[in-house]
Amino acid sequence: MPSSPVIMIEKVDLSLGEGAARVHILKDINLAISAGESIGILGPSGSGKSTLLMVMAGLERAESGRVVIDGEDLGRLNEDALARFRGRRIGIIFQSFHLLPTMTALENVAVPLELSGRADAFERARAELEAVGLGHRLSHYPAEMSGGEQQRVAIARALAPEPAILIADEPTGNLDFETGEEIIRLMFEASRRRAMTLVLVTHDRALGARCDRQVTMRSGEVVETAADHAATHEEA
Ligand SMILES: Nc1ncnc2c1ncn2[C@@H]1O[C@H](COP(=O)(O)OP(=O)(O)OP(=O)(O)O)[C@@H](O)[C@H]1O
Ligand SMILES: [Mg+2]
Repeated sequence: MPSSPVIMIEKVDLSLGEGAARVHILKDINLAISAGESIGILGPSGSGKSTLLMVMAGLERAESGRVVIDGEDLGRLNEDALARFRGRRIGIIFQSFHLLPTMTALENVAVPLELSGRADAFERARAELEAVGLGHRLSHYPAEMSGGEQQRVAIARALAPEPAILIADEPTGNLDFETGEEIIRLMFEASRRRAMTLVLVTHDRALGARCDRQVTMRSGEVVETAADHAATHEEA
């Protein structure tokens, strides 16, 4: 029996902005992503990649069409239900980290877990930060960490609730090659270990090629999808 897609986007359109600045950003997007699949979203700047991620994560509502995540039609959830759903099922890594400056690394990871009702929030956060190599930076504030360290906190925070889906917007955009490689490894490893679905926006064709499938966007449309048999699952 074929499993139904964990992410299903049907005929989605979205325009944002007011008056003359109004832009038709997403145009009739159709996309189905299976559980455990990794998808690389490529395409030029301004083509709508980040906006598509926002729609997938329920941070931006589609104007028309349907977004069904894990069987839940996001259009039918109110804001509170949507936030709870996101907290449980979806991990998001923003390009600019979005860490809270007044919280330490440990608190940045633990507080969202605590808010979602996990009794072991701090233990779990500590383990997740250790996994990204930041066991020695638990009580550092974001301003006291390098860009790569902040990015790793963001990754730990996204992975800590063990989401079914990880959505990452150019997660290696600001990193040196080695830190980028390390972060990619962590994401694919988590994807494999937890059968987590991975949706990755990247300008890096090599990174895109490591995903099971690539989706290319242009001017708000999906213009191409291609399967890839790269050795993502066999890395040494
Ligand atoms: N709130 C908004 N109001 C009006 N236009 C917007 C808004 N958000 C995004 N846009 C426009 O929509 C288009 C797509 O933006 P988006 O951020 O999705 O592109 P992108 O593919 O992620 O680009 P990049 O690779 O540069 O990150 C851009 O032309 C942008 O200017
Ligand atoms: Mg973007």
